[in-house]
Amino acid sequence: MAYEIAATGRALPKNRVTNDELAKTIDTNDEWIRSHTGIGSRYIAEPELTNSGLAARAARAAIEQLAEKTGAAAETVIASLDVIIVATVTGDYLGGVPPTSCIVQDILGAKQAACFDIEVCCTGFIYGLDIASGLLAVNRRRKRVLFISSELLSRITDWTDRSTCVLFGDGAAAVIIEKTDAPSEGAGRRGILRSILGADGSGGETLIVRRGGTRFPYKTGEVVDKPPHVEMDGRAVYNFAVKAITETISLLLEEENLTVNDLAVIIPHQANARIVQAAQKRLHLPEEKVYMNMEEYANTSAASIPIALDEVNRAGKLKRGDIVMFVGFGGGLTYGGTLAVW
Ligand code: ACO
Repeated sequence: MAYEIAATGRALPKNRVTNDELAKTIDTNDEWIRSHTGIGSRYIAEPELTNSGLAARAARAAIEQLAEKTGAAAETVIASLDVIIVATVTGDYLGGVPPTSCIVQDILGAKQAACFDIEVCCTGFIYGLDIASGLLAVNRRRKRVLFISSELLSRITDWTDRSTCVLFGDGAAAVIIEKTDAPSEGAGRRGILRSILGADGSGGETLIVRRGGTRFPYKTGEVVDKPPHVEMDGRAVYNFAVKAITETISLLLEEENLTVNDLAVIIPHQANARIVQAAQKRLHLPEEKVYMNMEEYANTSAASIPIALDEVNRAGKLKRGDIVMFVGFGGGLTYGGTLAVW
């Protein structure tokens, strides 16, 4: 039995904001942002766009891809989805009441699907792949999981803080994970091979949305100067991220007895080009093996890896049997990586 990524899709808001445009509203400049992060632009949701709306658009793109691939109608694919998972920290409603995945289910009309959200910050895609495969493994009747990573980080960004607001963007991407009869080991193996999931809860304060939860709730009558927003100790996150992705890549390769030459591509979380380049240098990874697109989209948290995967997939850069590695890190602090055979 294999758990394969059968289709991918992505969706971005219409509004693309360049560094120069951002520099008109805050004391920053294109040179600083590019040299410190590799970011050139980001997509920012228009006020009426919802997380569930963007997630449903990404889901539709993956559903249509699978429909085309299998010759089935899109509605038939929708009717075949057993579970819908949304990875997000910026869901439509506080605390996920109701879960964004349930709203997506309603938009798509996938009445038969079970739904839930996961909150693992930027590592959401990595954790979600394991959860999705686990759900397929544990129940014989389940065949397909629609797994969407969707974020409207612009809604929890402090637009007066130049050290964080230049980093984030909005976006969503979906994968459909399918249980197939292909082998998951040995010759001709396919699907998700192996993963590493980790966390260091002692680093929670380094990336935090402090207010609005049950620990520090807003009180009736309280005058609030800023809505809930991300606060970050950039240097601490940077150090954690470089260590986490370097160790995760090494360990995944070692555990599967692979070298970097066996990989078609490594798709890291697209937080900051300097983090990726530091890991690249430490592990002597050839530049062409490591995919980066933060120049266009900035950091879209859980959505960043699957947006990149969709780009690679739709560009026809993956062929059957290629080994792909995903590696991520984020708030929590959390980290992880996945090896999958295309
Ligand atoms: N434009 C211009 N100058 C700026 C900006 C800006 N946007 N932001 C900060 N500066 C200034 C600072 O004020 C400081 O000036 P000073 O020396 O006069 O005080 C100077 O630049 C250096 O600031 P640092 O914070 O030390 O800059 P650093 O080199 O550490 O880079 C950065 C900051 C890019 C945030 C880096 O620490 C980093 O990438 N950290 C990891 C962040 C990350 O990846 N977060 C997301 C991961 S988790 C998730 O995805 C949600």
